[in-house]
Amino acid sequence: MQNFDYCTPTRLLFGKGVVSKLPEVLAPLGRKVLLTYGGGSIKKMGLYQKVKELLKDFEIVELSGIQPNPKYDPSVLDGVRLCKENGVEVILAVGGGSVLDCSKAIAAGACYDGDPWDLITGKVQTVKALPMVDILTLAATGSEYDTYGVISRTDTNDKIGYGHKLLYPVCSFLDPTYTFTVSKWQTAAGCADAMNHIMEQYFTGETTLMNDGFCESILKSLMVNGPKCLENPEDYTARAEMMFCCTLACNGIVAQGNSRSGWPCHGIEHALSGYYDITHGVGLAIITPHWMRYILSEKTLDRFVKYGVNVFGIDASLDKWEIAREAIDATAAFFASMGIPMTLREVGIDDSRIGEMARHIAETEGLEEAWVPLFEKDIAAILTASL
Ligand code: NZQ
Ligand code: ZN
Repeated sequence: MQNFDYCTPTRLLFGKGVVSKLPEVLAPLGRKVLLTYGGGSIKKMGLYQKVKELLKDFEIVELSGIQPNPKYDPSVLDGVRLCKENGVEVILAVGGGSVLDCSKAIAAGACYDGDPWDLITGKVQTVKALPMVDILTLAATGSEYDTYGVISRTDTNDKIGYGHKLLYPVCSFLDPTYTFTVSKWQTAAGCADAMNHIMEQYFTGETTLMNDGFCESILKSLMVNGPKCLENPEDYTARAEMMFCCTLACNGIVAQGNSRSGWPCHGIEHALSGYYDITHGVGLAIITPHWMRYILSEKTLDRFVKYGVNVFGIDASLDKWEIAREAIDATAAFFASMGIPMTLREVGIDDSRIGEMARHIAETEGLEEAWVPLFEKDIAAILTASL
């Protein structure tokens, strides 16, 4: 078991109606609030109106229109400008991972005199950030419980994940009823995203029995509850369990003491959504089984066998290679059963830029240090197999 340094300071307020505590959570952080949100889903579900009512004693500045795969220009730049112009003291992000991620970049950018891109790329270290609180409306990324933000830049096709301990939300409001209106597409994508977060931490060299159990249990829960959410979007119990699984899947708690895996599927997918603006969880679902097939070898076999037996209940007495292949096929079949298209062509990606993307990934994602190292030719092969 490896050494670790772990602290998640985020307060989680979970359950129906918790949002009523919003004023008491925000008050000690400041009265001048930047309210950030996306394209309007929070207005349709009445959450925007509810928040405005709860915050009637606060001064609110708004940044709306934050897009999926949030953009540095205009969203991050506009948010930073609004914070500086209005002396904003705290950010309230209401939405999915994209709104939260964008708000983290704004929180850091608002306390920096230069170009916020310097912070996102790590050229300049983040030393200060505004406090951020969020009300999550989509179970997927885990941004509500981690330090990461992923920001896209359309002029360069960059999609960069950056993180800093100052960017943990101070408090995340998790009311599963706010996810009732999430579309089938986004629900399935969210489930696949969280499952992949677990897989990225499970498929590595050194793990512990406890971490493996934690990971397997979250995967099993997502595979039960994801389809239930698709079947009945207002199934509170299923939405609630899915939400908490997603929250726990990305903040590292399931992998303390494990060796590093390099998060290869994320490294590859971020280029796909950077170049083609596709839904992150869908890109992951397409790539994951092909990455699995590509890295299956004597070195990785036992991990796949454990996964197949403990997650999919495959007969442990079968030949190991048979178990591993069956587990990979079952992974792909599960994603497909949720209605996710399982080829890149179906989401509008052909072979014309595979070479360029593979080079970009190899140069920027550090996948040569992954559990199974991936170089440009390996990345190109995985992308080609995913077509
Ligand atoms: O913009 P609005 O109108 O709000 O609509 C959104 C958006 O169109 C909609 N939506 C959200 N909540 C809804 C809803 N529609 C109806 N009812 C609701 N309650 O869903 C659409 C997608 O939203 P988005 O926030 O983009 O989805 P998600 O939460 O999956 O976030 C994806 C982004 O997070 C990044 C991804 O790369 C991607 O950019 N990630 C962030 C991570 C992190 N911070 O740790 C880790 C992840 O691996 C991931 O990379
Ligand atoms: Zn993800």
